[in-house]
Amino acid sequence: MDQSRTPYFDVLLDYVDSGVIPFHTPGHMQGRGMDRALRDFLGDNVLAIDLTQIRGLDDLLQPEEAIADAQALAAEAYAADHSFFLINGSTSGNQIMMMTALNPGEKIALPRNSHKSAMGGLIMSGAYPVWMKPEVDDALHMDHTITPETVAATLAAEPGIRAVYIVSPTYYGVAADLEGIAAVAHEFGVPLLVDEAWGPHFHFHPALPIDALEAGADLCINSTHKMLGSLSQTAMLHHKGDRIRVDRLKAIVKLFLSTSPNLVLVASLDVARKQMATEGSALLSRTIDLANDTRARLNAIDGIYCFGDEQVGKPGVFDLDPTKITITVKELGYTGYEAEEILRRRYNVQCELADLFNCLALFTIGTTQESADRLVYGVKELSREDRPIDVFSPSGVLERRLQTGTYNLPSIPPIRMNPREAFLADTEFVRFKESAGRICAEVITPYPPGIPVISPGEEITPEIVAYLDLEKKAGVRMQGPYDSELRSIRVVVEA
Ligand SMILES: Cc1ncc(COP(=O)(O)O)c(C=O)c1O
Repeated sequence: MDQSRTPYFDVLLDYVDSGVIPFHTPGHMQGRGMDRALRDFLGDNVLAIDLTQIRGLDDLLQPEEAIADAQALAAEAYAADHSFFLINGSTSGNQIMMMTALNPGEKIALPRNSHKSAMGGLIMSGAYPVWMKPEVDDALHMDHTITPETVAATLAAEPGIRAVYIVSPTYYGVAADLEGIAAVAHEFGVPLLVDEAWGPHFHFHPALPIDALEAGADLCINSTHKMLGSLSQTAMLHHKGDRIRVDRLKAIVKLFLSTSPNLVLVASLDVARKQMATEGSALLSRTIDLANDTRARLNAIDGIYCFGDEQVGKPGVFDLDPTKITITVKELGYTGYEAEEILRRRYNVQCELADLFNCLALFTIGTTQESADRLVYGVKELSREDRPIDVFSPSGVLERRLQTGTYNLPSIPPIRMNPREAFLADTEFVRFKESAGRICAEVITPYPPGIPVISPGEEITPEIVAYLDLEKKAGVRMQGPYDSELRSIRVVVEA
């Protein structure tokens, strides 16, 4: 196929060029009915292609024309059997993968450090989680990936698992041994689903980790918007092989799509695919070089460590995405949150995320040398002996935790109910500090990095209460609980 084509973007441009007089949604009628302030800011072009699925513009739910063509181009570019454009991120991709592969009550093996959207997949599908413990690096205070050995041991110990689900790469760019894991899953006769939200670029450069489909995954999702040039919310779901029923997959994809998809988003996927297929390798080479150079410059700063190839081969670190730079600041006595705040307030540099010990800087095809220089300057200033500490002084949280060791992630609690049943059960609110022993009915996810500490159906342990209490004191935002201050927690009413 001719990968320089953008069939979907083209039909939108043709529609605009033909000067059609619109009597259809969206109500702003190509911007004419929109309030001036937003219209002027966005510009007429973007509004002109914010159209609806009328004749000639195809239907994302039942693609037969230009969208089918654009998805076929994406499938070829990613060496997939089928690719689907998603407009609700990898969040919907996780939900679709689980609903496709599992029926209510069936078991799925998945890592404890899955993104919270995987919990949405469990709740919607009614599947039963068999948690796998990721490898942990205590020095970096970071969860890595699941090993093939853990997958094999889980499948052997727990009969009846119907699918294996893996997150690779992690938020920090650590990739799993997906070929090894695919071999194990397939030996046990189950499909491998991969949350490859952070790896939409892998397929297009040999210096990046092997991509999930090539490694043998049956389904995988890519947040195209995270690392490539498409708009926020866009993602792709790829399928390969014969372990997944394609009719069921197609039916479930439809359930998750609006009947009024934003066509600007759809076109941006078409264009991002073309960009990768035609220039991806060159663009990514520049990005990888810039990231590697910046990592070396940061590593030359006193008190700063940015992990790299020396970590490869450690448990759960099969390979690395060099375009992610994890800046470990703990030697400076700051938490990652504090460092992130200082970088933003003083140097106008915004990182992708912060955690207790680290700030994460994302390098993509859109990152410039000037931006990289600014990051290095900010981090250098952060590390100065005579750094100003009047406004943003270290909070002492890090020191307290290092002394007590309480920064360790809590153990996986006992599962007392299926997540879907607990989520939908009769519930009540109890004081969080007195909730140990109760069955949790909500997901509690310190954000970032967005990994649930406790989920519906699990018993709240004293260790979890203590851990979340510390996270709160460190200023971490809690996503998921009804009471965002976490003074109370929703639990299942027990007889
Ligand atoms: C590992 C992982 N999976 C899935 C998601 C959800 O992706 P999206 O924001 O595209 O919905 C994220 C978001 O950060 C993620 O980190």
